[in-house]
Amino acid sequence: TYTVELRKSGRSITITPEKSLLDTLLDAGIPVEYSCSEGVCGTCETRVLAGEPDHRDSVLSAKERASNKAMMVCVSGCKSESLALDL
Ligand code: FES
Repeated sequence: TYTVELRKSGRSITITPEKSLLDTLLDAGIPVEYSCSEGVCGTCETRVLAGEPDHRDSVLSAKERASNKAMMVCVSGCKSESLALDL
């Protein structure tokens, strides 16, 4: 369980293990573009403003992962206690 702060929307939501970050965002009415939902297409790439994502996609390079500036919200999670996203 972790918290995601949506800086553009001015909202904060809690992500639980039962539901993916993408599904939680969509259910909260946050417009996120997506396509594959499997971490391969890159459509759901979202800017990370703070926090450390747990990258589980196969889109980002090792360098991009390490920089923690973007994440695929359909499959990736969070290693820190919270994330701040540009949504
Ligand atoms: Fe394809 Fe997330 S929807 S990588």
